[in-house]
Amino acid sequence: MYFETAAGMRPAPLVHNPFNALVMPRPIGWISTIDAAGRTNLAPYSYFNAVSSDPPYVMFAPNSVVAGKDKDSFRNLREVPEFVVNVVSGTNAAAMNATSAPLPHGTSEFDHCAIAALPSRLVRPPRVAAALAALECRVFQIVDLPRTPDGRDNHVVIGEVVAIHIDDSVIVDGLVDERRLEPLTRLGYMNYGTLGAVFEMLRPES
Ligand SMILES: Cc1cc2nc3c(=O)[nH]c(=O)nc-3n(C[C@H](O)[C@H](O)[C@H](O)COP(=O)(O)O)c2cc1C
Repeated sequence: MYFETAAGMRPAPLVHNPFNALVMPRPIGWISTIDAAGRTNLAPYSYFNAVSSDPPYVMFAPNSVVAGKDKDSFRNLREVPEFVVNVVSGTNAAAMNATSAPLPHGTSEFDHCAIAALPSRLVRPPRVAAALAALECRVFQIVDLPRTPDGRDNHVVIGEVVAIHIDDSVIVDGLVDERRLEPLTRLGYMNYGTLGAVFEMLRPES
């Protein structure tokens, strides 16, 4: 089939927007933030990825579901422009999902979902103690996408990674072992994936 997006995102026979089933698997950034009053927030974002490894930059996209109401993570970043990306392993899937609940602004998912936190070193938001890796980030730039016709604002947050935590248990012979990190990935609809076959392929010599 073929369709043009200006006419809507679910032409027949599609019953859901197919976009997140086409751009996948996506890594999940489990993003911790803090507001000016020191109240923490934790939420998963799969419109998340690395932008560059050296220098290290990441991005995530908080998209409003209600006109005129930004996500708490984004509201916090406007007050304290720092965040932590906690890497989600399969063992943390249920906890990660629990933190996607729409709680009242100011209610911490760390407390509500009983998720243990550890202090970060260079940024104010805490990190998830159970995460096997975490990236401490400072906001570099916020890109505002055009407001939707129904009044929802969508943003792209680009952050500079200023510090990295890696649990020693996932480092083998000086390399991060994918199997030990066990990253959870987001697929289409409500589906998730874990690592399938891993193989090495060297680049051609120039
Ligand atoms: C796996 C997963 C990935 C998600 N990815 C995004 C995303 O990329 N952008 C977004 O706006 N919401 C995403 N959500 C929904 C948010 O996590 C959810 O709206 C959450 O309540 C936002 O929290 P906050 O308002 O505390 O920032 C995702 C949810 C899940 C479970």
